[in-house]
Amino acid sequence: MKNLVIANWKCNPSSLKEAKNLFNLIKKQSKDIKKTEIIIVPPFIYLPFLKGLDLGAQDCFWEDKGAFTGEISPLMLKNLSCKYVIIGHSERRKYFNENNEIINKKIKAALRNNLIPILCIGEREEEKKKKKTKKIIREQLENGLKDIKKANLIIAYEPIWAIGTGNFCDFEIAKEIKNIIFETLSKIFNKNNLEKIKIIYGGSVNFKNASDYIKKSEFNGLLVGGASLKSQDFVKIIKSIEKLNNIKFK
Ligand code: PGA
Repeated sequence: MKNLVIANWKCNPSSLKEAKNLFNLIKKQSKDIKKTEIIIVPPFIYLPFLKGLDLGAQDCFWEDKGAFTGEISPLMLKNLSCKYVIIGHSERRKYFNENNEIINKKIKAALRNNLIPILCIGEREEEKKKKKTKKIIREQLENGLKDIKKANLIIAYEPIWAIGTGNFCDFEIAKEIKNIIFETLSKIFNKNNLEKIKIIYGGSVNFKNASDYIKKSEFNGLLVGGASLKSQDFVKIIKSIEKLNNIKFK
């Protein structure tokens, strides 16, 4: 199983020129990478202009087409050769009121269109303080994946307090959460399907801590926000993951 390194550019950069420039720098500096899968997730409008690395979208609508002003459908993304789609990022949950029910509809729509969903889950700071992390994780998985029996899927554990704060999750704690995610998924999916699901970490990943989430916490990859906007930092993360060979995962 290849490790994944995913760049979530969020609402950046501000021009197509900058987007192409960042993309091409990453592509050039990572041309010798063989064992790590690199996925770039730019804003929708840059997708058709970026070629040569796998692409993902940051969200999608739950219908394929119709009178839904302003929405981007999973079918449109598929037709743009997009392979992945992030669903349920905490910023969408927070600023756009996306709940587990909406997220479930979007996951189903993505799967129906053969896109690989990257389902983001994670607890807020106050939930962590109240020791509700396990409960939140289980609820987000069970409700987000409701009525889905078979899926090519990525789960991203992103504790909300760790996103963009520099306050990344302790490796041991992250490993415990990874195990809870795995256990919860094993109640939803059969063994064959389970083996195909990757569980990744996100939240203040940088080139210093990146490889420990694979080595110590046994994640299958990383979702990188801030550090993916600087090509050198991002490529350092990719290279630190590429160096890790033959790590066995559960
Ligand atoms: P960050 O963002 O790496 O800037 O913390 C991660 C994310 O939101 O996916």
